[in-house]
Amino acid sequence: MKKRDFLKTGLLGIGALIMPKKSQALEFYPMPSDKKWAVLFGTWCGTARDAGVWISEGMDGIAQVYDVREKPDLSSYDHIIIGSAIRSNEIHPLLKEYLEENRSVIEGKVRGLFAVCGNMMQPVEKEQYDAFIGYQLSPLTGAYDVPAMVFLGRITWGLMEPDVRDRMQQIPGMVEYDNLKRPECMAFGKQVREAAGRG
Ligand SMILES: Cc1cc2nc3c(=O)[nH]c(=O)nc-3n(C[C@H](O)[C@H](O)[C@H](O)COP(=O)(O)O)c2cc1C
Repeated sequence: MKKRDFLKTGLLGIGALIMPKKSQALEFYPMPSDKKWAVLFGTWCGTARDAGVWISEGMDGIAQVYDVREKPDLSSYDHIIIGSAIRSNEIHPLLKEYLEENRSVIEGKVRGLFAVCGNMMQPVEKEQYDAFIGYQLSPLTGAYDVPAMVFLGRITWGLMEPDVRDRMQQIPGMVEYDNLKRPECMAFGKQVREAAGRG
C-alpha cells in the first residue's frame, strides 16, 4: 500500500471511531404522516421491541420505533409512545435513565404507555397496571391520563444471558412460553392514535 493510501485509510478508520453513531429507528415500513410519531422501548430479549413494532403496525406504520440503547434524539417528534420489558418488577434500567435525563424533551408528548411482563403466564390484573404504569412509567414520563397497556410477554432461553437462564431454569415450572399477541399490540396502537385525534 502506498504511504498516501495508508494515511488515508488510517484517517478514515480514526474518523469512524470518533464520529458519534447516529441512532436508527427500526424503519421497516414508515408511512407518511403530517405528525411525527415515535415508539421508544426498553428490552432485554426483544419482546418489548416486537410489541413496539406491532403497535406501530396498528397505527398503519406511521411511528418510528427506537430501542432506548440507541439513545435517540426524540426532540423532533410530536407524539411518543413509551414501553418497557419488566424484570424483578421493574422497567429496564436504561429506559429509566433515559426518561430521567430526557424528561424535558418528552414531557407533554407522551400519548401511550406499555409494559411487557411474564406474570407467571397468568392474566394481567390491576396490580400489574399499578406496579408498572402507575408507579413507574407514569411518574417518569409525566403521562397519567393516556392509554396504557400491560402485555403478557415471552421467555426464550436461547436469547437470555446464560447466568440469568440458569437461575430462571431453577424456578419450578418455569418453561419457555410466548404470550405476546400481535393483534393486541396492533389494537393498542390504533387506540393510542385515535385517542390522540389520529395524529
Ligand atoms: C430475569 C427475569 C426476571 C423477570 N421478572 C419478571 C417480573 O418481576 N414480573 C413479571 O411479570 N415478569 C418478569 N419476567 C418476565 C419478562 O417480563 C418477560 O420475559 C418479557 O417478555 C421480557 O421482555 P423482553 O424480551 O423485551 O426483555 C422476568 C424475566 C426474566 C428473564
